[in-house]
Amino acid sequence: MCFKNIVSSLPTYQRLVYLCKKNMQAKKPSASLTTLTDLVLPSETNPLNNLFGGELLARMDRAASITAGRHSRRIVVTASVNHVAFNKAIPLGTVVTVEGKVSRAFKTSMEIYLDVWIEDRISGKRTKANEAIYTFVAVDETGSPVEVPPLEPETELEKQRFDGALRRKQLSLVLAGKMKAADATELKALFV
Ligand SMILES: CC(C)(COP(=O)(O)OP(=O)(O)OC[C@H]1O[C@@H](n2cnc3c(N)ncnc32)[C@H](O)[C@@H]1OP(=O)(O)O)[C@@H](O)C(=O)NCCC(=O)NCCS
Repeated sequence: MCFKNIVSSLPTYQRLVYLCKKNMQAKKPSASLTTLTDLVLPSETNPLNNLFGGELLARMDRAASITAGRHSRRIVVTASVNHVAFNKAIPLGTVVTVEGKVSRAFKTSMEIYLDVWIEDRISGKRTKANEAIYTFVAVDETGSPVEVPPLEPETELEKQRFDGALRRKQLSLVLAGKMKAADATELKALFV
């Protein structure tokens, strides 16, 4: 077994210790915070003059990509879009802000949480319109996954999102056919 495989097979805690020693310092979610503000233009709307869903997905993907890149300082690719909720329609002319933060870093993948805010033109008051969760993987120049620094959540919300991330990762892997449901320990724990 090569050294890289030995490290990969270590339990999470020992791997964290190894990565820290290897100078993979844990990073805080604030270090990857990405804020993308833009208007809704006529070419980006549906027949009801609201923001087209695919346009919002693209904006979130861009914000998530920058977020994952800031955390890992590597090339990153979208592995999965785990959850999107279009709770509020976003009308033409609205100022839309997409905020991305890494919510948990695994070995080579990162969960990115995206919150979408709209801004009242007169009062400036911000309202949460949508949210989404993307998974990105850090890769080298040949597209092979590479390890990323661990994440150290700080705020209550960051800790909550960190805690749920392994469950969401397992669900995403099961749905993608990359993990057997029987191996999804975090998911099973919800039902016992
Ligand atoms: C994403 C990609 C790099 C994963 O490569 P792979 O050979 O499957 O590598 P692995 O199986 O080792 O997975 C790498 C990591 O991604 C995670 N992953 C892979 N698919 C996932 C999914 N559907 N949901 C959540 N995590 C996923 C794995 O769990 C692993 O995480 P970890 O190392 O943190 O534990 C590869 O599938 C790829 O390049 N896909 C295309 C990406 C792309 O072009 N995106 C743009 C879409 S247009």
